[in-house]
Amino acid sequence: MKYDKNICTVCNYIYDEALGEPRQNIPSALKFDDLSDEWTCPECNSAKEMFQFCSCVSLPIYEQTCVAHSPEPAQSNDQSASVASKATPVGLLVAERPARASVLEAFGIDYCCGGKTTLEDACRTKGVRVEEVLDKLLLADQQDDPGAQDWTKAKLNDLVEHIITSYHEPLRKELSRVALLAEKVARVHGVKHPEMAQVRDVFNQFKAELELHMQKEEMILFPGIVSVETTGSPQHFGCDGGIEHPIEVMGKEHDDAGEALRIMRQLTNNYAPPADACNTFKVMLFSLSQIESEMHQHVHKENNILFPRALELSKSGQLAKAALVL
Ligand SMILES: [Fe+2]
Ligand SMILES: [Fe+2]
Repeated sequence: MKYDKNICTVCNYIYDEALGEPRQNIPSALKFDDLSDEWTCPECNSAKEMFQFCSCVSLPIYEQTCVAHSPEPAQSNDQSASVASKATPVGLLVAERPARASVLEAFGIDYCCGGKTTLEDACRTKGVRVEEVLDKLLLADQQDDPGAQDWTKAKLNDLVEHIITSYHEPLRKELSRVALLAEKVARVHGVKHPEMAQVRDVFNQFKAELELHMQKEEMILFPGIVSVETTGSPQHFGCDGGIEHPIEVMGKEHDDAGEALRIMRQLTNNYAPPADACNTFKVMLFSLSQIESEMHQHVHKENNILFPRALELSKSGQLAKAALVL
């Protein structure tokens, strides 16, 4: 069984499911979700809703005590990935070597929804020197993890599984948890920080749309993509249904999610906590920034790897069928 850890956002006590809590006679292996709703933090008496799941998104803060979920399976890295150049689309740069993502993020370059833009054009838009970015990318390549999975060559079925377990499932939990925090921050700090009511509203819409979006991907598009890989045609959509249209719709919804994240970043002054922010306020802003970062990786893998590969497979399947008819 997999044991998780949940941290109290008020006092930083960690409830470790593997250990339980002997002081409250809670046995080991009891899941956090199975604790009663009346359960409170043994250190500071905070309510259960003040706990946050320790996932990879909270690791930067709690790395001493948390374990990462869904570690990427060790597989051989493609040493033939091309050297970064000015003319390479930024999405392809990251598809070839995921470690390049943090370099582009540091320069504010969008590699997921803006993945088709060349590095040179993206740098020009951001007003940064392309040579400086290339130097940093080269450095990242040298430090790249040789065990990282290369999703440009993996089976699409494996990539779909990876997206669901590494992004969709943790994101659903994060969206619910952060919605509670956003509500609380807006209620407690809304008078002094009216922008936090706007953040809550934008977040709630972002959450609702994203939950529906992931459901559509998991129930319609992803099974269609897997059937393209296994049978050569998207049987999931019926005899004539192609995957082009749902992919186009999902791409548009990614753009909408990106816009909501941009608005929340702007409203929160780049997620910087104000001087009077309490712990919940800080955790909420930090969590938002981590959701944004995870969304970049998530959307990048769909927009720049999964969807183009599925479209290419679908196209070659259609060509093969046409050849048979002829
Ligand atoms: Fe997704
Ligand atoms: Fe998506």
